[in-house]
Amino acid sequence: MTSLAPPILPEPRVVDVRVDRLGVPATPVLTVDLSTVRRCYRQLHAALPGVDLHYAVKANPSRPVLDALLDEGASWDVASPGEIDAVLAVDPDPARISYGNTVKKPADIAYAHARGVRRFSVDCDAELDKLIEHAPGATLLVRITTSGAGADWALGQKFGCDESTAGRLLARAVSHGHPVGVCFHVGSQQHDVDAWDEPLATTARLREVVRACGSDLAVVDLGGGFPAHAAEPTPEVPSFGRAITAAVRKHLGPDVPPLMAEPGRGLVADAGTLETEVVLVSERAGRRWVYVDVGLFSGLAETLDEAIRYRITAHRDGRPLLEPAGDVVLAGPTCDSADILYQQHRPRLPLDLRIGDRLRIHAAGAYTTTYSSVGFNGFDPLREVHR
Ligand SMILES: Cc1ncc(COP(=O)(O)O)c(C=O)c1O
Repeated sequence: MTSLAPPILPEPRVVDVRVDRLGVPATPVLTVDLSTVRRCYRQLHAALPGVDLHYAVKANPSRPVLDALLDEGASWDVASPGEIDAVLAVDPDPARISYGNTVKKPADIAYAHARGVRRFSVDCDAELDKLIEHAPGATLLVRITTSGAGADWALGQKFGCDESTAGRLLARAVSHGHPVGVCFHVGSQQHDVDAWDEPLATTARLREVVRACGSDLAVVDLGGGFPAHAAEPTPEVPSFGRAITAAVRKHLGPDVPPLMAEPGRGLVADAGTLETEVVLVSERAGRRWVYVDVGLFSGLAETLDEAIRYRITAHRDGRPLLEPAGDVVLAGPTCDSADILYQQHRPRLPLDLRIGDRLRIHAAGAYTTTYSSVGFNGFDPLREVHR
């Protein structure tokens, strides 16, 4: 009888993916500065006095970010049972949660209601039917549509309803004994400080509909949209505060209903710097292509259609690389031709940029880690560290 020798296998290669051979944190990695998160919260809170800020957890649900915002006094906007659980793990008071997603399974509404959530958004009859059945007594916020003009990431097409539908939904909700409100979102990375004016004018007219039903608006939700400091300049938070406060007074004063907002990007984006390594620099059809180790599938999904244009700087051995610089096409590392970050926008990078240099993608603390795939092409999901 012959015995089979065990196959000789190579020793498994143990790679610590968190540091490279020089002990430098391995890329890609997002570093979130929690003091900047706190500063952004305080700035927006000061700019919008009397507005209850519900942090849109989807922007960055990491525990240290939630802890910092809880400490600053934030309330919460959630999109799913997973986010409800994440919030309740840091803040046990469900009264501070608003379920702002207008697309919810009946079981998810029932779950939220059972956990004590009492504020839900809705934009059509079928969703209102679910809420009447599964969220008795809850405050229902009817979401009106907006044009999304002025925003880099518009949200108007998929969500919201027109004014007459909103009036009908509000009247129906009141007739079923629900407190009601109006909500809207002017589009994310919004540059126009006056974008809130038109939806607030609509809200004022809808308030009359609600009053005619013998009730009043229990809350008006100003949504999110406050921009990060991306590649192009944008108005600062105090300018948004002044314009929104004036529009609220103009349309809803003097007896202004309770106000809330749902900022996501504006609270966390500026706090995040995404460091990535240059994998390849090459010429293709007369253009310089720079390939880095982060892409559309590892966190930078908002570069889709080049909508969000990040500010990018180049570094070698920790020192900035500067001029002379030239236009590049910037692409991710995967074997998918859709994994191109910028082709039209053409970021400018130093001409002597070489393999192994690093790029810092600034104001990347929002909508990056959670967009990262679980392992497309075998690349790890985007890591997040805090300081
Ligand atoms: C319902 C809702 N609220 C708030 C936000 C946060 O928006 P922003 O990150 O632009 O502040 C979003 C973003 O998608 C949203 O869908």
